[in-house]
Amino acid sequence: MNEELQGPSRNEIWKMFDQISPTYDAANRVFTFGLDQIWRKKVCAFLPSKEKMLILDCATGTGDQMIALMEKRPDISHIVGIDLAEAMIEIGKKKVSKKPYAAKISFQTASALEIPFPDNHFDCLTISFGIRNVTDIMVAFKEFRRVLKPGGRVLILEGTIPSHRWLRVAHLFYLRHFLPKIGGIISKNFHAYRYLNKTIETFPQGEKFAGKMRAAGFVNVHPHPILGGVTTVYQGDKDASIYH
Ligand SMILES: C[S@@+](CC[C@H](N)C(=O)[O-])C[C@H]1O[C@@H](n2cnc3c(N)ncnc32)[C@H](O)[C@@H]1O
Repeated sequence: MNEELQGPSRNEIWKMFDQISPTYDAANRVFTFGLDQIWRKKVCAFLPSKEKMLILDCATGTGDQMIALMEKRPDISHIVGIDLAEAMIEIGKKKVSKKPYAAKISFQTASALEIPFPDNHFDCLTISFGIRNVTDIMVAFKEFRRVLKPGGRVLILEGTIPSHRWLRVAHLFYLRHFLPKIGGIISKNFHAYRYLNKTIETFPQGEKFAGKMRAAGFVNVHPHPILGGVTTVYQGDKDASIYH
């Protein structure tokens, strides 16, 4: 049977996240050995130094990237998290409600391909483990640039494949054999975690991905590989002299 028929279509991939939402956080902790939280904190190292920033977190899921941002940078004024999966958002809302900075975080059901905010609105936009899921990354980039203020920054955290030969072999073994089994056992949804490893392997990465960001008009674009390249933070700025 065609594997694509076993789960939602690419343009409704958020439905798969609704299905796995009850175990999403637990599966992340187990199959990354807790490193996913450290990777989200790494994103904070590339934030602009500006105080009182307004930030948009696209494909926010259960809100872990927003929590990491607030814990590292309490001077942030407000973060809005958008996602299409309402069950993921509900879990995020419960987690955030227990935090002392809960009033500085809000959630909205919306697509990264049609962001419900005006032009030149945010100081920074983050998207963690989300860009791989959007159907058209160039449309997403166009939206990201539109809602960023001139001089604003986009930070994209995504799973990648290390370039070092032996690290690459070990990581591919982990992605193909360990991750789908562990994720599948915890969530009881083997399709979701096979989708995860397939999309990581086939998604553009490194300089190829950075080239797409430049083609979309971002400047000062840099990929920052983490832990030998098992994940990468891509940074890019909206040219301060351009309005959108
Ligand atoms: C792997 S999860 C990442 C969640 C979160 N950012 C994190 O760090 O754990 C991917 C998320 O992308 C969301 N998603 C997929 N397509 C989307 C779209 N077009 N717009 C907004 N969110 C989308 C899914 O619903 C899911 O919550």
